[in-house]
Amino acid sequence: MAESTRSSPPNSPPTPSATAIQTTRSWSLGLFLSAVITILIALLLVQLDTFDAAPYPSDELAKKPILLAPRTNPRVLHGSEKIGEGQLLGPEDIVYDPKLGVIYTSCVDGWIKRVTVNDSVVKDWVNTGGRPLGLALGYSGEVYVADAFKGILKITEDGEIEALTEEADGVKFGTADAVVVAKSGVLYFTDASWKYDLHNFVFDVFEGRPYGRLMSYDPSTRQTKVVAHDLYYANGVEMSPEQDFIIFCETPMMRCNRYYIQGEKKGSIDVFIDRLPGMPDNIRYDGEGRFWIAIAAEHTYEWDLARKYPYIRKLLAFLEKYLKRPSVEKNSGVIVVDLDGNRMARYYDPELKFVTTGVKIREHLYIGNLIKPFIIRLNLTQYPATAPPSTE
Ligand SMILES: *[C@@H]1O[C@H](CO)[C@@H](O)[C@H](O)[C@H]1NC(C)=O
Ligand SMILES: *[C@@H]1O[C@H](CO)[C@@H](O)[C@H](O)[C@H]1NC(C)=O
Repeated sequence: MAESTRSSPPNSPPTPSATAIQTTRSWSLGLFLSAVITILIALLLVQLDTFDAAPYPSDELAKKPILLAPRTNPRVLHGSEKIGEGQLLGPEDIVYDPKLGVIYTSCVDGWIKRVTVNDSVVKDWVNTGGRPLGLALGYSGEVYVADAFKGILKITEDGEIEALTEEADGVKFGTADAVVVAKSGVLYFTDASWKYDLHNFVFDVFEGRPYGRLMSYDPSTRQTKVVAHDLYYANGVEMSPEQDFIIFCETPMMRCNRYYIQGEKKGSIDVFIDRLPGMPDNIRYDGEGRFWIAIAAEHTYEWDLARKYPYIRKLLAFLEKYLKRPSVEKNSGVIVVDLDGNRMARYYDPELKFVTTGVKIREHLYIGNLIKPFIIRLNLTQYPATAPPSTE
């Protein structure tokens, strides 16, 4: 009975259940203390780590909301096909040559591969010996390559490689990232970060300092000029159809800028589109008045916090260096905008990560990415982006 339990003599040995409770208590105290000590040691180690993260310019970023596209296909993997499975490893960029009916794609094993669009047959074309990223088709069948480790290369129609440039103002490129060519023959290209190479790109984003540059290369003078410096991870570039401006991305700033190469505004830079739904990568023009901007990772609340507080990024850098960073990327895909930067549509999927390029070729969207061993292809007639159902 309850009464007799309570009145047991004070000196009697504790009942088994009381022992259990006490053991649990000292256990949980021990656990608690060791957890606290572990956390303190970890914080001390992080503090002692020399990685120095800087604040991002928050004024333009944090306060503005992300703008949504009027039409979406949020499940692009549904109904999509795999092109060149097992043969196209990490196809980062894709460029279409309508004359030959082929696409060129840049793979992680150094190969630039050629895929016939009509029957999806894959052929090895040229191996750069580096990591080819951005590609651009020249006007005489040549292909220009931004190779992360080799700089800017020209590959002739018969597959001869010529190295064009790998430094500007005495600073070697850290990660040559994307390239485009004007009819004049002048190349415009980005170095994402002169400080970090491709294997360490995540530290550039965690550090939060602008080590990126936009540059030009004139083949007639062999001169490389810096067009803009202090860019935040300068990524994809693309030419406007009138050749009057180029657009280029600043990945962690979630925006693309416009650099005018002709007309009244020649030489000036403004923001082409900001408040993107995530981190932009390569940009492709489709010949029909639309730019297709790859979104490598969706914007998240966690990233907002990390961007705001350098200490969080220092912590993430520490995790990346010594442990394993949690993978949170999702809803990667492509956003489609018109020539003025107005949002038209967005294609994405919760299962997609690290989408680096999206190209529309006739009826299909071709999606390149860093981690899959194939290109994803979606029939846009069959699986279009649609407006959300009216809520009235
Ligand atoms: C596909 O295109 C290539 C190059 O244009 C051509 O050689 C080939 O015969 C075509 N194949 C089919 C099945 O149409
Ligand atoms: C794409 O889908 C449409 C609609 O289902 C179909 O008519 C067309 O043949 C498809 N295109 C290709 C190239 O498969």
